[in-house]
Amino acid sequence: MSSGDALFQWFERFHGPIWGDVLDAGTGDHSLGWLQSLSPRALTAVTVEAWRMAGLQHIAPKAELLLGQWTDPSLLHDRSFDVVLLDYVIGAVDGHAPYFQYGLLERIRPHLRPDGRLYLVGMEPPPSDGSELDEIHRLRDACILLAGHRCYREYPREIVVKWLELAGYTLLDCQSLPNRLGARYIHGQLDVAKRKLPLLRDKALAEQLGRVIEDLRGRALARGERSFGADWVIAAAPNAKGSSTAGSRAGSASIG
Ligand SMILES: C[S@@+](CC[C@H](N)C(=O)[O-])C[C@H]1O[C@@H](n2cnc3c(N)ncnc32)[C@H](O)[C@@H]1O
Repeated sequence: MSSGDALFQWFERFHGPIWGDVLDAGTGDHSLGWLQSLSPRALTAVTVEAWRMAGLQHIAPKAELLLGQWTDPSLLHDRSFDVVLLDYVIGAVDGHAPYFQYGLLERIRPHLRPDGRLYLVGMEPPPSDGSELDEIHRLRDACILLAGHRCYREYPREIVVKWLELAGYTLLDCQSLPNRLGARYIHGQLDVAKRKLPLLRDKALAEQLGRVIEDLRGRALARGERSFGADWVIAAAPNAKGSSTAGSRAGSASIG
């Protein structure tokens, strides 16, 4: 993926120095560490994954960390923020709350103050170009599915922008940043695949897939770093109208 720092710098340039009350609505080490470095008035962070909690606590001991699910209407009930960040969350939603990507944008909106800002980072769906990186994505997802888990699903920036407008936001700015992917990314994705193998019912298949993973790792590393796909950043603000009737209809019926 693009250097996270470049993505975060884009928001820093856009936003200016005063961050107020900030919500990291799908938190992780990277986004939480960055938000904390901005010295917001208060920092709240949500994840649905219990395994992240200890590490997050270590990174930002003063932040309010919540283990919760955005489909739960009681999560952060009556709380509002100056800034909400969705950093690689749209792509992750399918793994935790299938089909809730558009719903999440609607769900977040009441938590933004009238002059608040919603910042999003996401990854364009990866190219199907037959390269080793393309193979890595397909092999990773095959292992996830065989383990009985759900895959992430990345969305193009244009679809997310359309959703935002339907869900009652005004687009302020957006940009795509091309990715250069190398060893760190290759190991990261193939290690996800490898961790799924003990969960496969067919142990012979798991063993065979283990060999396929290592063969692909060798080929991809030999190829070295290369340009592949893009990340996007979006800045939006809640608009006074809120979500329109047309938006709700389209949102539930045909978008995406
Ligand atoms: C890919 S991780 C985000 C990465 C993170 N921003 C970082 O610093 O690397 C996605 C995050 O969104 C959270 N998430 C995804 N769907 C969610 C949902 N339906 N409810 C609550 N949290 C969710 C995950 O638990 C995780 O914390």
